[in-house]
Amino acid sequence: MAILPILPFGNPILRQKSKRVSNIDGSIQKLIDDMIETMRDANGAGLAAPQIGRLLRVIVIGLPEEEPFALINPQIVKRSGEREVMEGCLCLPGYRGEIKRAVSVTAKGRDRHGKEVRLKAEDLLAQTLEHEIDHLNGVLYVDHLQGEGRLYKIEGSEL
Ligand code: NI
Repeated sequence: MAILPILPFGNPILRQKSKRVSNIDGSIQKLIDDMIETMRDANGAGLAAPQIGRLLRVIVIGLPEEEPFALINPQIVKRSGEREVMEGCLCLPGYRGEIKRAVSVTAKGRDRHGKEVRLKAEDLLAQTLEHEIDHLNGVLYVDHLQGEGRLYKIEGSEL
């Protein structure tokens, strides 16, 4: 496993759309392991492959006290509710922005073994899924800042 450099906000790769993974092979397994190690090292709760310069539809999520997991070709199939959250990103360390996210989402994708999974999530897990899937589409949380929305400089864990 390896800790990989995380691209900073402003790098054009972060604005590109990632490609679907067609074959979940050894290189994807290794990518997942490296992403989990990189996320833990950065004290993050989630990481998407484009953040380490790989334009593939792979995300990892590691919420506090929970086993980290990967989702390949993830998609949000249902969103409900709306709430205001403070959100950060490992590509923009030390900042938070107040944005709106769903209260709950249903996501589907494949796990690291290629098995289809469907996940109902609320609160922080729902927020993290939306944040990481946004990365796969070249979208960053700052894009969701409202007219009066501001960025704050705050410490804490990032996505
Ligand atoms: Ni992020």
